[in-house]
Amino acid sequence: MTRVLFTTSELYPLVKTGGLADVSASLPAALKASGVDVRILLPGYPAAMPLTQQNPDSAPVALQVGPHAVKLWAAHLPETGVPVWLVDCPPLFDRSGSPYHNPDGQEWWDNAQRFALFARVAVLLASGGAGIHWIPDLVHCNDWQSGLIPVWLADLPGAPATVFTIHNIAYQGLFDHDTFRSLGLPDSLWHWERLEFHDRLSFIKGGLGYSDRITTVSPGYAKEIQTPAFGYGLEGLLGHRRQDLHGILNGIDTTVWNPATDPLIAEPFQSGEWHKKARCRQALLRESGLDDDDAPLIGFIGRLVEQKGIDWLLEVMPGWLGRGCRFVILGSGEQRYEEPLKKLAQDWPGKLSLTLGYDEGLSHRITAGCDAFMMPSRFEPCGLNQLYSLRYGTVPVVHRVGGLADTVLDPGDSTPDQANGFSFSKPGPAGLDEALGRAMATFADKPAWQRLQANGMARDFSWTRSAREYQMLYQSLLPDHVSDRLYPSYGGKRHA
Ligand code: ADP
Ligand code: GLC
Repeated sequence: MTRVLFTTSELYPLVKTGGLADVSASLPAALKASGVDVRILLPGYPAAMPLTQQNPDSAPVALQVGPHAVKLWAAHLPETGVPVWLVDCPPLFDRSGSPYHNPDGQEWWDNAQRFALFARVAVLLASGGAGIHWIPDLVHCNDWQSGLIPVWLADLPGAPATVFTIHNIAYQGLFDHDTFRSLGLPDSLWHWERLEFHDRLSFIKGGLGYSDRITTVSPGYAKEIQTPAFGYGLEGLLGHRRQDLHGILNGIDTTVWNPATDPLIAEPFQSGEWHKKARCRQALLRESGLDDDDAPLIGFIGRLVEQKGIDWLLEVMPGWLGRGCRFVILGSGEQRYEEPLKKLAQDWPGKLSLTLGYDEGLSHRITAGCDAFMMPSRFEPCGLNQLYSLRYGTVPVVHRVGGLADTVLDPGDSTPDQANGFSFSKPGPAGLDEALGRAMATFADKPAWQRLQANGMARDFSWTRSAREYQMLYQSLLPDHVSDRLYPSYGGKRHA
């Protein structure tokens, strides 16, 4: 049985800021179901530590990592039984706020130290140095917070293979030179072909340069990040490693996101039961304080950050509100988007509902109750909300990028039995406006709209296929794993 250590900084339902948490729960569950011995490593945030109460008799493994005394607790995820190790180091992880920010929204001042320690613990576990008998064949790292793991493993003879998954190349873990020195990284790594990136330490470059294979969360994004428009300065490195770079589309947890059984929505429904979906819609209108009539109801859920195209939304929404549409928006993020959204909601009582904050239940009810769902993201590595919407018969209107382009099929370029939403290519509010126009014209034609809904609900976005792709990738690195890393070790020569 292949043993995989899955390292992540977020894990649904314990700690979540975005889709990484969803994937970190659902992919290991799918791998476990298909026979992989997968274990998750997660920082011991306050929201995760109650898991250690599952078995009051269990004792943690004590480790000394630099100046820090660390306890490594073994637990299980209650729903799926996937084993989880929690890296308990109270000075670094026992904090209120998000995994990355303090309650005022500032990045924690010592994020580099926090995730370097996390990486050190992963390396100890993976190399047998933690005194635990279970040693992985492979470490599956996720995003910059795991970036130093392949770097340190590359220097250990016989270390497990590494896969590094990019969920979002815009977040790179960049720190100054003093921080680099404080982490005890050797000077040889302060080089543009190693960890240095425009005079800064880049955690993500560690993952990209030192892992055996790189994956990202959709085939479309795998291509895009090799271009200057989407690569955030790392397109050259990614192009260099294109043979080792794979796009594997995220799946969704079809037990949490199932319209036929969802306990969080007003009335469960299946494809074709549009009268039941209509009751979800009515309940959502009531809950959101919106006027109840037949006007199209359009949803948005997400982080209010530049990536998500909120400024484009803000430009087009007044016109559509004027034409009678209703909007229901759930999100939290930057003030520069929250403030104008608040103003718009004040200007349009009964027509635009805005909830600032994080609300899992409401996110299900919006997904179930809306007619259409907007995702005008500037870039979107995969995107989960359009997948949830498709599954709930809510027609997505999206910017044709990354995973959105891979999953939302516009009637303009797909057959009638495939089309499931609307997409626009040209970035900017005009493109969104045009796509919404086509969506609203189709909404008036009920049979055509219901066909889109049914097509979306018929697509299989479960993990079955993608988990198999990860397994095949793991297998290709085992058992006679021949290192293909760009940089075989600190002193190694660049791989030709
Ligand atoms: P990203 O990871 O870039 O934020 P994804 O579409 O992959 O985008 O995943 C976002 C996840 O976070 C989805 O599960 C979405 O429902 C959830 N989400 C985002 N904002 C909120 C919110 N304010 N309340 C509830 N869920 C949210
Ligand atoms: C990132 C991306 C999002 C993706 C998620 C899970 O946060 O922004 O597109 O779906 O990771 O992979």
